[in-house]
Amino acid sequence: MQTRSARGFLTHAALAAVIAGTPALAVPKATYVARCAMCHQPGGEGLAGQFPRLAGRGAAIAQTPAGRHYLARTVLHGMYGTILVDGQSITGLMPSMVAMTDAEIAEALNHVLSLKPAKSATPFKPAEIAAVRAEGKASGSQNAELRRQLVDAGTIK
Ligand code: HEC
Repeated sequence: MQTRSARGFLTHAALAAVIAGTPALAVPKATYVARCAMCHQPGGEGLAGQFPRLAGRGAAIAQTPAGRHYLARTVLHGMYGTILVDGQSITGLMPSMVAMTDAEIAEALNHVLSLKPAKSATPFKPAEIAAVRAEGKASGSQNAELRRQLVDAGTIK
């Protein structure tokens, strides 16, 4: 009886709190909305000349190990430099998000992978982020340089 009435009182917010405490049940969208959407926009559409579009592009970049490494490293350490996205140049600064946990970064990236037009991609696991974190700090300019190499290699379009 008690279980039944308790369940009746569980609001969505309470459920989300329960889920947040359970690593197996991640909340990718909420993490993306809280940490990324203010710049990259709720649907990942970006803002021309300011914030790169992630929708559709994230999953494409995540197809190769080098691309996945780049995505994790960019969220961990940020990026500073001039990049070309959708034919437009962006000279921006993405802050380092190194204070986020490995699970939160995996969640945020997994939401990016699901943004339409979605393309199937292997989800990120916290261990994959932890491995990139263990490589140590990279500067935003180093990440921009890494990106140039990946563009030359065709990993990032
Ligand atoms: C304060 C604004 C801001 C926030 C918050 C932010 N970003 Fe960024 N992000 C940028 C900017 C600006 C760039 C491009 C940097 C440059 O021009 O060198 C960028 C670049 C990127 C790139 C590289 C895109 C490419 O084309 O190579 C990825 C991936 C990315 N962000 C993911 C995220 C994720 C995931 C989050 C949340 C965990 C996030 N960003 C939070 C501003 C932001």
